[in-house]
Amino acid sequence: MIELFQISKSFGTQVVLNEFSNKFTAEKTHILLGRSGCGKSTILRLIIGLEKANAGEISVDGKNNHEIKNSELPKYFGYVIQDKTLMPHMNAFDNIMLPARALKIEYETVKERFNYLEDLVQFDKGLTEKYPSQLSGGQKQKACLIRALILDPPYLLMDEPFSALDPMIRSALQNELKKIFQKVKKTVIFVTHDLNEASALGDEIVLLNQGNIEQKGAMRDLKENPASEFVKTFFQAQAQHF
Ligand SMILES: Nc1ncnc2c1ncn2[C@@H]1O[C@H](COP(=O)(O)OP(=O)(O)OP(=O)(O)O)[C@@H](O)[C@H]1O
Ligand SMILES: [Mg+2]
Repeated sequence: MIELFQISKSFGTQVVLNEFSNKFTAEKTHILLGRSGCGKSTILRLIIGLEKANAGEISVDGKNNHEIKNSELPKYFGYVIQDKTLMPHMNAFDNIMLPARALKIEYETVKERFNYLEDLVQFDKGLTEKYPSQLSGGQKQKACLIRALILDPPYLLMDEPFSALDPMIRSALQNELKKIFQKVKKTVIFVTHDLNEASALGDEIVLLNQGNIEQKGAMRDLKENPASEFVKTFFQAQAQHF
């Protein structure tokens, strides 16, 4: 479980999170929703230590996240963001192997898992020799997904991983991801603006507003029993896009 306890985070005078607390319980997919700029990406970045909170604590399996060494991070977290995360001068194979190499883990040790993940996300074997510039957007995101899962971390943090993809590929990847989540039993924190994606993948929706949680629960609860005018308006506004 990942627990954020009274986390406050400001950038200069801008307060982004205000005593934000939440438990991201194990083996569930938690969806972070909220308006642009409300702090969703910041929450993921705080969890993996790319940002430091001004106050509060984050624990991962009961351990303060600052106690996790940088090199150990890929053992805990798979992190997939929108784009530009593959190293351009390395082919897909070397990109995928980066977290393993950082821990001096040889290919032989992860070979089986590598093959398993290639099959799982349907990443053609011939693609591993290609460089990022020779891969399509969907293929790049699949490589990122394999890389995130190569060390079998218990936590998967995904920040709008498919938002740059066209709707057909996006929908196919969502379906694959759903199967993957069911098979690999990860604790997932997934940021998206897409309510269909949130419904398809999420066990629990966490809707943020003004630095804290406005409402959380199943998507249906939030839609049918909005706890506030904000929640109601949020879903009405989103519905207009569909
Ligand atoms: N390193 C930084 N320095 C200054 N301000 C920052 C920094 N990172 C984030 N912010 C600000 O903090 C706020 C929250 O940013 P964040 O990226 O978490 O939003 P978000 O909810 O992920 O938005 P979006 O849906 O647009 O991706 C924004 O107003 C942003 O400008
Ligand atoms: Mg963001």
